[in-house]
Amino acid sequence: MRILITVLASLLLTPIGATQVSPPANPVWTQVAPGVWKSTIGQPEDLTLLSAAGGKPAASGLAAMPAAVFPLESGEIEGRQVNANTTIRFPLAAGEDIYGLGVDFANLRRNGAIFELHVDHWSSSQKITGRTHAPVPLYVSTRGFAVLFDSARYLKVTVGHGVRLAAKQRPPIIDRTTKKVWHPGSGSGPDTMNWQSQPRSDSIEVLARATGIDVYVFAGPTPMDAVRRYNLFCGGGALPPKWGLGFLNRVRTQYTAAEVLADIAEFRANRIPLDMIGLEPGWMDHAYPCSFEWDKTRFPEPKAFLAEVEKQHVRLNLWFNPYVGPPATPLYPKLLPYAGTHLVWNGIVPDYSMAQAREIFAAHLRQTVLTANPAAIGGFKLDEVDGYDRYLWPDTAVFPSGHDSEQLRQTYGLLLQHVVFDVFHQANRRTMGQIRGTNAGASPYPFVIYNDNYNFDEYITAVSNSGFAGVLWSPEVRGSNNGEDMLRRTQAVCFSPLALYNGWASSQKLWTHEAVKDHIRAAIQLRLRLLPYFYQAFAQYHHQGTPVIRPMPLAMGVRASVDSEPGRLDATSNPYEVPRAARETKDQYFFGDSLLVAPIAPGAQSRRVLLPPGKWYDFHSGKFAGENETIEVAPSLSELPVFVKDGALIPMLADERQYAPRPGERVGLEVRHYGDAPGRVSLYDDDGETFDYERGEYSWTELITRKDAAGKWSGAIVPDANGKRWSYGEVSWRFMSQR
Ligand code: GAL
Repeated sequence: MRILITVLASLLLTPIGATQVSPPANPVWTQVAPGVWKSTIGQPEDLTLLSAAGGKPAASGLAAMPAAVFPLESGEIEGRQVNANTTIRFPLAAGEDIYGLGVDFANLRRNGAIFELHVDHWSSSQKITGRTHAPVPLYVSTRGFAVLFDSARYLKVTVGHGVRLAAKQRPPIIDRTTKKVWHPGSGSGPDTMNWQSQPRSDSIEVLARATGIDVYVFAGPTPMDAVRRYNLFCGGGALPPKWGLGFLNRVRTQYTAAEVLADIAEFRANRIPLDMIGLEPGWMDHAYPCSFEWDKTRFPEPKAFLAEVEKQHVRLNLWFNPYVGPPATPLYPKLLPYAGTHLVWNGIVPDYSMAQAREIFAAHLRQTVLTANPAAIGGFKLDEVDGYDRYLWPDTAVFPSGHDSEQLRQTYGLLLQHVVFDVFHQANRRTMGQIRGTNAGASPYPFVIYNDNYNFDEYITAVSNSGFAGVLWSPEVRGSNNGEDMLRRTQAVCFSPLALYNGWASSQKLWTHEAVKDHIRAAIQLRLRLLPYFYQAFAQYHHQGTPVIRPMPLAMGVRASVDSEPGRLDATSNPYEVPRAARETKDQYFFGDSLLVAPIAPGAQSRRVLLPPGKWYDFHSGKFAGENETIEVAPSLSELPVFVKDGALIPMLADERQYAPRPGERVGLEVRHYGDAPGRVSLYDDDGETFDYERGEYSWTELITRKDAAGKWSGAIVPDANGKRWSYGEVSWRFMSQR
């Protein structure tokens, strides 16, 4: 009888379906690289973002970073398990601003927002939701550190939203009717406060629908140092081949071999530089789904065609989406055993979280696609791995590895970049590609994100945000009935990681609009002449982790986004609160150390440019532009507003040319000096095409300019004593700001 009562009592205490909530605990941190700490909360899953990306920490770059201590109060960080979920809390201090959390197209600053980080095609109508092409779960704090939540789940992140009962310092409680204020625990305060419907909280909180998660903390001391540590920890930033920084022209889907060659000839005849031609779905004999076989009607002799392309110093970039079919195509039966339960575009979805599937795909790329002439094929455009939901597999899909649809959605782009990159790496040839969906860990991969959106302002915000996320993003130029529109967009892409025209659906060419043709040529010529400068920015990304694109808040080292005023009540449109009006500088950014780029939108006659502290000079004229102020510029059609720091040296190719220099070719260098301060830069070089730099085949050469007692400027070069590669012949110096 006693036993029966005990059993009954215990049944009452533990009802069927009981929930499991662990008390919050402070995670234990282990240093895994200089200034990088890891903690595992609960039982993490085997497939994470970093494991899918597969990079290895760049040991020498990390070792060269300043020494650091754990940048947070570890007792302030909490993790806990709630049923099958894991939650994490990081403190958010007063005055701390948060950036990152993926390539958002609307804003840079993240305070007060709620995201579900989810690989997707960005849509303007979605606004800030976390659904984007690179929802990288890395946040960067103005307190000088960064935090990565390494999970292949749709992470829910709240930034300074949702006040905790347990918070030490809660916001004042304000009576909305009378504006009377009660400070918790200390009686009432002055009657001057604005009531807020969403008082600020002291936390950044993350919900992972997983039994555990790995979390990484990257020390500063500055936010830029934290981002550098993140990029280096992922393997160091991407280093494309030199030709990858030239111009890419994507042709119409149904183009034939003859039409492609005619296009190349027209580029040369128009003296518009060209390094890459992008073939769209029509290079395959079936798309969509994709066969991954050359189409013999449009490309009857791939070998001969590719030899001709190579002769013209051009590389092909081949489009694909990863959905394989129809069933008669040779690759289909090989990948069928690894297919998920659902089709996309009527093709099978291979489970690339499985090594066997990756090997089959890599072998096919090598044996069928690249064999025809490996040197002529420079890369791939990895399309449609992002969303929208209706274009991908549903969340109910199941994959043979046992990974579910959500895990594959968050990692698919990473897994594909890894496979394609390895194919090129094993052949010791660098690649430059495009991708439409990626995630954390992608820093080492030379794939540039793009999308089908065409909103200029959003494009530029995304370029800025890419610098917080360890990814590369470029706007596009497409056909347009308006020459000025095409010109302004071309000028902007020429100052982004990948300069491209996407003519896949257009009969127009870059020379279609007679009135702007010369300006378009000049913009692309300038892009190519700036190759040594742009290459330097990528070398710093690779070796030092410093992002190529540096958004204003990151580059300035100060808070560059300002809340203009707190919310106010509005009687009709919003009876609770008018959203805070955020002014932030998201329409200009740094490319590399010294160029401040302020793209001018199609249709705009002028724009404002925020010049940070220090003296700034106009890139084109060398004239003084301003100092720690906001200026208004009204550039002519021929110029994109670009500004240079006092004392900066900008290395450029001395002469105009039609394609990037080849390995071993000696080319003249023009070094431009701006302003009145002495200049010094350590310029990187290597063969520009292979991975020999991994074996030390590179150099850093000092370029120095100074003024003598008589006020005469001169330049000097100090070669790298251990340097293995230097491709420049004669060096000329131009002192742009001296008259
Ligand atoms: C789209 C892509 C375009 C173009 C097109 C070809 O998904 O965004 O740039 O490649 O596919 O079908």
